[in-house]
Amino acid sequence: MSEMLEKARKYEEEQGKQIKAEDRPAFHVSPYVGWMNDPNGFSYYQGEYHLFYQYYPYDTHWNSMHWGHVVSKDLLHWEFLPAALAPDEEYDKVGCFSGSAIELDDGRQLLMYTAVDHETLEDGSKRDIQTQAVAVGDGRDYVKYEKNPVLTEKNLPEGASKVDFRDPKIWKGKDGNFYCVIGSRPADGSGQILLYRSENGFDWEFVSILAENKKRFGKMWECPDFFELDGKHILLTSPQDMLPEGLEYHNGNGTLCIIGEMDKDTYTLKEQFAQSVDYGIDFYAMQTVKAPDGRRIMIGWMQNWDTLAHRDNDSKWFAQMSLPRELSVKNGRLYQTPIKELDALRKNRVEYNDVVIDNDTITLDRVEGRTIDMELVIRPEDKENMYKKFGLRFAKNEKFYTELSFRPDESVLKIDRKFSGTERALVHQRRCLVNGDANELKLRVILDRFSAEIFINDGEQVMSVVIFTEQEAKGISFFADGAAKIDVVKYDLI
Ligand code: FRU
Repeated sequence: MSEMLEKARKYEEEQGKQIKAEDRPAFHVSPYVGWMNDPNGFSYYQGEYHLFYQYYPYDTHWNSMHWGHVVSKDLLHWEFLPAALAPDEEYDKVGCFSGSAIELDDGRQLLMYTAVDHETLEDGSKRDIQTQAVAVGDGRDYVKYEKNPVLTEKNLPEGASKVDFRDPKIWKGKDGNFYCVIGSRPADGSGQILLYRSENGFDWEFVSILAENKKRFGKMWECPDFFELDGKHILLTSPQDMLPEGLEYHNGNGTLCIIGEMDKDTYTLKEQFAQSVDYGIDFYAMQTVKAPDGRRIMIGWMQNWDTLAHRDNDSKWFAQMSLPRELSVKNGRLYQTPIKELDALRKNRVEYNDVVIDNDTITLDRVEGRTIDMELVIRPEDKENMYKKFGLRFAKNEKFYTELSFRPDESVLKIDRKFSGTERALVHQRRCLVNGDANELKLRVILDRFSAEIFINDGEQVMSVVIFTEQEAKGISFFADGAAKIDVVKYDLI
């Protein structure tokens, strides 16, 4: 093991154990200590889910990238393992950027990642160059391959940049070969997704340009993932520099899902539909795993480069992952639902039916908390007389709250954390155009201390935000402008 990795492992163990469990999210992944960004290597290996993450243990700000590592049997209780990779080789000395993991035919685990190095230009200035490298291990300790890097500028199609060539996502094809998709920047400065193939995970060949951005959805496409789901081919990617279209793509670093069909002769994706993956403030760089039971499960970084909100200067960790979400395709759209494992955490069920809120603000006995799972159905009291606005305030006390509000006439759901006490957050609101019937809005709200995830109409759309409101702010209230009628089912999760 390199000195650099040994140092990181020692440091995280000493520092990580000083962070109290109650000062972290209860069931969302947070870094051992320090900074975390993208989920990497989300995989199932030897009976456990493995999740790696972009990691800098020594500070709560981005710096030279390591890979942190956690494992779990149920995707909710995570155990820290020692850091898996450090930028300790000549070819990755700037950082071990994002990538993925898979089990090799011989039972070892392969990590494939972007190795970032410097190149000195004629004028003496330096720029990063990106190649792909691999490491193999036993689920805990990894050895970088002696012939790294395994994909370099030589493997790029004409015109593609060696500066932006990153984030390999690997899978095993039905033909027994390994495949990976990688984000790339073509000559037009836009983004494209490259497809590569390998028989053994070490020797790779270029197959095709799977998908091209052509400057439609932002510029460089980061962190691609590609898989079959419910008879469709799905490309997930996180484009930089997006422009909003209506209420889609409101984060400059956006999330994009393209649903289509892959042409098996040309290995190109024929697009049928495109949408945001998440409509909230804090979500980026999602990656999926195929669970042993066949479910496609996605996890994302519950932060975003455009909206980064640090908690406070004393916190020893920064950022968390989203709740793992099961994906499906319905009515041509991507649906996300909280993984079913969450049901096992539910306790203290409280239920209310047909509660009428008529130009009023109410609270409901035992409906409160910061680690909860709450299902709501909101209807007009009288169908002929639609309410104007319905609202929910949570993480609430005299001083703070976060508000979710729905205007049925516009079918717009808004999240607003302006009064959440989240310091230095520059972005407070996001609005989502809800596709379903405004006469019956279904929400599932999952809170875990520092975050809220809102699943709309059985997961047709999702909004994710982080909130750093003091934990004593546990209250929940409901209000309506006009007369609304609601059903509430609420559980505690710890
Ligand atoms: C996305 C990203 C990736 C890159 C990593 C570096 O958030 O920019 O493209 O590999 O973060 O930490």
